[in-house]
Amino acid sequence: MKQIVADAAINYVQDGMILGLGSGSTAALMIKSLAKEINSGKLKDIKGVPTSFQSEVLALELNIPLLDLASVNKIDLAIDGADEVDPSFQLIKGGGACHVREKLVASKADKFLIVVDETKLVKNLNKVFPLPVEVLPSAWKQVKDMISEIDGVSSLRMATKKAGPVVTDQGNLILDVLFKDGIIDPKGIEIKINNIPGVLENGLFVDLADEVLVGKIEKDAPVVYSPSKIN
Ligand code: 5RP
Repeated sequence: MKQIVADAAINYVQDGMILGLGSGSTAALMIKSLAKEINSGKLKDIKGVPTSFQSEVLALELNIPLLDLASVNKIDLAIDGADEVDPSFQLIKGGGACHVREKLVASKADKFLIVVDETKLVKNLNKVFPLPVEVLPSAWKQVKDMISEIDGVSSLRMATKKAGPVVTDQGNLILDVLFKDGIIDPKGIEIKINNIPGVLENGLFVDLADEVLVGKIEKDAPVVYSPSKIN
């Protein structure tokens, strides 16, 4: 499902575009498909703006020309995965702890295209997937306490194959937050959390996604569809 949706996203890419290169396993498949098109000469004059160390390394290995986020005024198209997508295309991202740069890239893009498999579609955000919040290392406990005042239960994301917490590409830590009833008001929660001192950014992407491509299995074969936003 992830491969077919990653391939479908490449149909949106045109010669000469500056592309935001997302993070996570689905975006990685998209970057590999993009590299094939560039290296075979089917797509020309493409430049990528990575959203993470992961996408930067992958793009470099695959010879996709890269630009720094700071050096571009606008991005034509950003393609990225998501952890949850609600019916009005509000998102939770940050499962890979990359949501700070992902949000910067998405905000600079003329079009923000999301690629997911159908397991990511939810009625209400945060019933299952915790909201990632990037915090300054020295502030994690204070932020955790302040999030509990708005009824969020946070846990510090711990690393595997390393003792202690996950450290982000920016050198910060991640709190994963669950609200008892999920997130009913994504815009309100996005603002409330970002107003807490010590918070760098949270993984709510509100009113940013323009189109969502969904991969699913139908009659034993993978298919892609693009649902409409329900306001
Ligand atoms: C990383 C992200 C990813 O896009 C999100 O976690 C989805 O990843 P995957 O495609 O591996 O399910 O937001 O910070």
